[in-house]
Amino acid sequence: MSISFDRVSSRYDASRGIPAEVSEQITDWMVRAVNPTAETQFFEPGVGTGRIALPFVRRGFAYTGVDISEAMMAELRQKVAGFDHRLTLQQADVTALPCRSVFDVAIAVHLLHLVGEWRQALAEIRRVLKPSGVFLYSHGRLVRRMQRQPASIQGCMRLNSNGDRSY
Ligand SMILES: C[S@@+](CC[C@H](N)C(=O)[O-])C[C@H]1O[C@@H](n2cnc3c(N)ncnc32)[C@H](O)[C@@H]1O
Repeated sequence: MSISFDRVSSRYDASRGIPAEVSEQITDWMVRAVNPTAETQFFEPGVGTGRIALPFVRRGFAYTGVDISEAMMAELRQKVAGFDHRLTLQQADVTALPCRSVFDVAIAVHLLHLVGEWRQALAEIRRVLKPSGVFLYSHGRLVRRMQRQPASIQGCMRLNSNGDRSY
């Protein structure tokens, strides 16, 4: 079971938006954590209206987002209309991703608590990451803490090819 955000898509940013300067600080932190190059492929299941994705897209990174809600992604499509970007969006369920293992960094924010089959979701995220991929995960409290003090973000997990995890 999953929870679609179709009905709240037009109100989502007003209720969950992050101040621009905090958003940039959060993105700075994540960029430092994964040290991306121009070739780095980002992936975000549950991309929503792009609260997390948009700063990466504005910085020119290749970013793929999936979501079960077309309405949420429509908000993001509007935001990137009119400038060159490397954003790809596709409607998909995180428990059955239509992707191969091509991603270097996966990001999940405010998603897994909405997904009944969260173990399957994690397995799918792992499958679409390259063996040396990095998974950044955050849930509600952590995002609120990031908003107050971005340097305190802690949800960084590196998935190694032998299955080991480091944080
Ligand atoms: C709370 S929003 C978070 C959006 C974005 N990550 C952010 O931090 O602003 C959760 C998003 O996950 C999507 N979602 C819920 N269940 C999903 C699933 N099984 N597969 C893909 N997306 C899902 C919802 O439609 C919604 O857009």
